[in-house]
Amino acid sequence: MDHSNYVIDQMISAKSIAARVEALAHEIHDAFEGTDKLIVIGLLRGSFIFISDLVRELDLPVEVDFLETSSYGDGMESSREVRILKDLRGEIEGRDILVVEDIVDTGHTLHHVLNLLQSRKPKRMEVCALLDKPSRREVDVKATWVGFEIPDKFVVGYGIDYAQRNRNLDHIGAVRFLDED
Ligand code: IMP
Ligand code: MG
Repeated sequence: MDHSNYVIDQMISAKSIAARVEALAHEIHDAFEGTDKLIVIGLLRGSFIFISDLVRELDLPVEVDFLETSSYGDGMESSREVRILKDLRGEIEGRDILVVEDIVDTGHTLHHVLNLLQSRKPKRMEVCALLDKPSRREVDVKATWVGFEIPDKFVVGYGIDYAQRNRNLDHIGAVRFLDED
């Protein structure tokens, strides 16, 4: 099948995202109020826009770190085998940490990452995911905060890609192929 011919149907507007990010930041603020330092950990690359908007709404002493896991490659299916391509720069033992993910889909990525980070003994670990596709879950894993629950559609924009494209869209849209029959 030729996957080059597709359109993007808007699913979540830039305005809705901004409002939701602000609300999430308030909830995170209340949960971590009084922390001496919150280490916000973005999972690369899909969370880079979300994390940058989120930390700017977050009125807490924050540090930012990044972790990169293996991705889908150029396909749409989860490999289910998660590898760490880039580890954190800093220590998290005894720290408050917030893991920021773009989408929880099958759950394999988050499950693997949370197990790894938990083994380093943070004081408290919570997760904020922009999107959640609960109908796709294969591993029982939950984010503490979810921006939007979405149906089983392949989405792009606001940092999220299809074959590395469309990360720069300011909204989130669903990919629809024109040559499917
Ligand atoms: P999981 O391991 O199946 O939960 O996959 C999580 C990762 O797959 C996310 O962090 C995304 O990078 C990617 N992913 C899942 N669904 C989509 C999608 O609809 N569009 C683009 N990437 C996706
Ligand atoms: Mg990702």
